[in-house]
Amino acid sequence: MTEFDLEAVLLIEQSSFPVPWKREHFLHEIQAQHSFPFVAEYDGGIAGYVCLMSLFEEAQILDIAVAPDQRGRGLGRLLMEKALAVAHEKGAEIMALEVRESGAAAIELYQALGFERVGIRSNYYEASENAVLMEIYIKETS
Ligand SMILES: CC(C)(COP(=O)(O)OP(=O)(O)OC[C@H]1O[C@@H](n2cnc3c(N)ncnc32)[C@H](O)[C@@H]1OP(=O)(O)O)[C@@H](O)C(=O)NCCC(=O)NCCS
Repeated sequence: MTEFDLEAVLLIEQSSFPVPWKREHFLHEIQAQHSFPFVAEYDGGIAGYVCLMSLFEEAQILDIAVAPDQRGRGLGRLLMEKALAVAHEKGAEIMALEVRESGAAAIELYQALGFERVGIRSNYYEASENAVLMEIYIKETS
C-alpha cells in the first residue's frame, strides 16, 4: 500500500465498516516501522487490502477488507496468506486478531486458515457488539 492507493482503499473501507478508518490511520500504517500494509489488485484496480503489524514474536491483523463487488474470489484468503508469510518472515510466532461476532464471512475465512477462537471481548464495538479474539501459531502453518 502506498499513499497513491488511499483513495481506492478509503472507498472500500467506507463500504465495509460502520466506523471506517480515516486517511490518517492508513497513512500511519504506511509509515510506521512495524506495520506492513498490502493491497490486492484485480483487473488493474485496487480490490482489497490488509494491514499487518508485526513486532518481535507477535503479529496482529489491524484491518482487512475486500471491495463488496470483488468478494468471494479468493482475494481475502490471498491477503491473509500474504500477511501470514510476511509475519513469519519478520519472526512472528503468533498472529492475533479481533473480529465482530456478526462477521460470519471473516470468521469463516480465519477458521479456514487455521485460526482458533481464544476469547471474547464484551461490548467492544459500537452498538455493544462483542469482539471474537482469534489466534494462530504461525509456525504450525509454515
Ligand atoms: C472478510 C472478507 C475480507 C473476505 O474476503 P473475500 O475475498 O470475500 O474472501 P475469499 O473469497 O478469499 O474467501 C475465503 C474463505 O472465506 C470464507 N468466506 C468468504 N466469504 C464468505 C461468506 N460470505 N460466507 C461464509 N464464508 C465466507 C470461506 O471459508 C472462503 O473459503 P472458500 O471460498 O473456500 O469457501 C470480506 O468479506 C470483507 O471485506 N468483509 C467486510 C470487512 C470485514 O468484515 N473485514 C474483517 C474485519 S475483522
